[in-house]
Amino acid sequence: MPPATPRPRRIFISTALPYANGAFHIGHIMEYIQADIWVRHVRLQLTAADQLYFVGADDTHGAPIMLKAEAEGVTPQALVARIAATRPKCLNGFLISFDHWHSTDSPENAELSCDIYRKLKARGLIYPKTIEQFYDPVKGMFLPDRYIKGECPKCGAKDQYGDACEHCSTVYNATELVNPYSTLSGATPVLKTSEHFFFKLSDPQCLAFLREWTQHHRLQSEVSNKIREWLGGDGEENKLVDWDISRDAPYFGIEIPDAPGKYFYVWLDAPIGYLASLKARLQQENQALEDFLRDPGIEQYHFIGKDIIYFHTLFWPAMLKFAGAPYHVPDNVFVHGFITFSGEKMSKSRGTGISPELYLDLGLNPEWLRYYLAAKLNDHVEDLDFNPDDFIARVNSDLIGKYVNIASRTATFIKKYFNNRLGKNFTALPIAQETLQQASAIASLYDKRQFSAAVRQIMELADKMNAYWDQQAPWTLAKRFDALNDVERAALHDTCSAALEVFRLLTLYLKPILPKLADEAEQFLNIAPLNWREAAATLPAGHTINDYTHLMTRIDPKLHVDRLLEAQAQKVAAAVVTASAPTPATKSSATAPATTQTSSTITIDDFMKVDLRVAKILHAETVEGSDKLLKLTLDLGEEKPRTVFAGIRSAYKPEQLIGRFTVAVANLAPRKMKFGVSEGMVLAASSAETPGIYLLQPDSGAQVGMKIK
Ligand code: MSP
Ligand code: ZN
Repeated sequence: MPPATPRPRRIFISTALPYANGAFHIGHIMEYIQADIWVRHVRLQLTAADQLYFVGADDTHGAPIMLKAEAEGVTPQALVARIAATRPKCLNGFLISFDHWHSTDSPENAELSCDIYRKLKARGLIYPKTIEQFYDPVKGMFLPDRYIKGECPKCGAKDQYGDACEHCSTVYNATELVNPYSTLSGATPVLKTSEHFFFKLSDPQCLAFLREWTQHHRLQSEVSNKIREWLGGDGEENKLVDWDISRDAPYFGIEIPDAPGKYFYVWLDAPIGYLASLKARLQQENQALEDFLRDPGIEQYHFIGKDIIYFHTLFWPAMLKFAGAPYHVPDNVFVHGFITFSGEKMSKSRGTGISPELYLDLGLNPEWLRYYLAAKLNDHVEDLDFNPDDFIARVNSDLIGKYVNIASRTATFIKKYFNNRLGKNFTALPIAQETLQQASAIASLYDKRQFSAAVRQIMELADKMNAYWDQQAPWTLAKRFDALNDVERAALHDTCSAALEVFRLLTLYLKPILPKLADEAEQFLNIAPLNWREAAATLPAGHTINDYTHLMTRIDPKLHVDRLLEAQAQKVAAAVVTASAPTPATKSSATAPATTQTSSTITIDDFMKVDLRVAKILHAETVEGSDKLLKLTLDLGEEKPRTVFAGIRSAYKPEQLIGRFTVAVANLAPRKMKFGVSEGMVLAASSAETPGIYLLQPDSGAQVGMKIK
């Protein structure tokens, strides 16, 4: 009897939906690269009968996006559309193979959110409750806690947020703040009642389900520990509290059925956006989401960062479970840590981190970053540090020095002596056998998302191959090629051919990480696309390969990394320092880059965070190796003068600046640059339309160190 054909697999994979109020940052790209490597690995195992959908979308709703759009004088839809238009560049640029990218502000999402809500309501898990909340009488809206400040009820510290005191760490309700004010208008908020809808997470059936879900799925240990903390131990009383899922108008979101003026809280409709994206993708193939989801064997996985575990392991599974058919409870949630830079947290304002767009614009190879991240990612909820020197070393010494090297050094021999034709018995050589034997071990490391371990094993195999080559020293036989007897000639031929067979296997092993390089290597080897199922299909005896063309260039530390870090610093400096002429808000169009627009309003508190001081330029000099920077020595009235690198060389000669007064940001975190540490920033005006850079200068009489406010 032939073996029963296994059921086709149906797999649905998502990454967290980024807020649609800004461009991708490197943290997003890291998450997509991690997920994409896993997805590509799984795809390399599938047969034509299987289905896999990898989807993403923009998370569009909520008060911050509504307020940002308002400050820019555009509709939230226009803001969201402008951001959406920037997505393909990075997704394609970093080779992220999403099957679809959608938006939570879509008919599919509205329909699914309402459906899930209605089903939860029918199960008695939604109830209304009147709550008292702060309301901004000037703005005419209820205030989320993040827009309320006041004095701490415990220690009296001023300007504390509505949820906790940064001074004494007391946690409280916004309504307990003394002398509260709205950060949107400055008005004193008033308490106002309103009816909200709650999801009854405290219901015993939710607790029972979540306990079971946690136990029956192989969650990461860090994640199940967190959940256990939230759920409480067996016998302990239920720690789960009901979840407020509604917001009052004005709100950018999905209106709740039969409740005019009430909207779903953004975190209710955001994860439903995964399903909306899948639905839109399936529609392109005339497939119904319901049919896809109803398959009991479906697998559903979500990649997320460590900051949003709560939403994805409590609310999200509970919503799906109790909404019932056709919805499917997640099979797993894969959580990653945060990316840091040389040990520092990524911060947009301080310019640490690297901009994914800049990386691409400067022509850095996306597969360098993919390889580097893979070499560091594992299945734990651990932060991952990007270190420029480490980045260069791993790519140049390992990826190129070990793996690419095998092809480049072998190709010369095969072409010169054997006219690009392979030998006969090379697949039986131990080096080829040993490399093939690792296939399932490496595939299983990918399965478990232990990418760093997979890369380590692959590089060990490459090391072995290179050692074998050196030990065989084929060049000694080649030197007297014409004098070789048949046995010697076959030995040389097989050594070279085995090296290419090993290269074929290593290409397969690296393919989830390096899809483009693998594609080029397949062309060089003149073979069909590699996959896991056919790993053992060796290069055929006598097979003809194509001429070798260069597969990957090395990272040039100066040309690539220094330029990237410098451009990053300048981009941040330009965004922070440049007092660009305000564009009338109504003029902003979908194509205008965000930095030329008037930014959204800030409060006086926000402004006061910047410590601006009168500074005297004691010394100025050019910086060797940079045509943009001047090195300034500034007196800020402190014990010691400061060194600041400023991107103003195009507009000023050093001697023009010495002795001048200007304005400096005194509390900017020091920034390590290629040329030294910059301990602040000077202010200058510039605009995209008019050339020139105009350094600020206080009126005469201002003294060094004076505060500007
Ligand atoms: N919109 C929500 C998610 C809704 S999912 C239904 C959100 N958006 S986010 O833009 O703030 O974050 C998107 C993803 O990026 C999250 O998984 C988050 O953990 C991840 N990261 C944000 N900063 C990061 C790093 N510095 N490093 C790695 N990932 C990071 O949360
Ligand atoms: Zn306090």
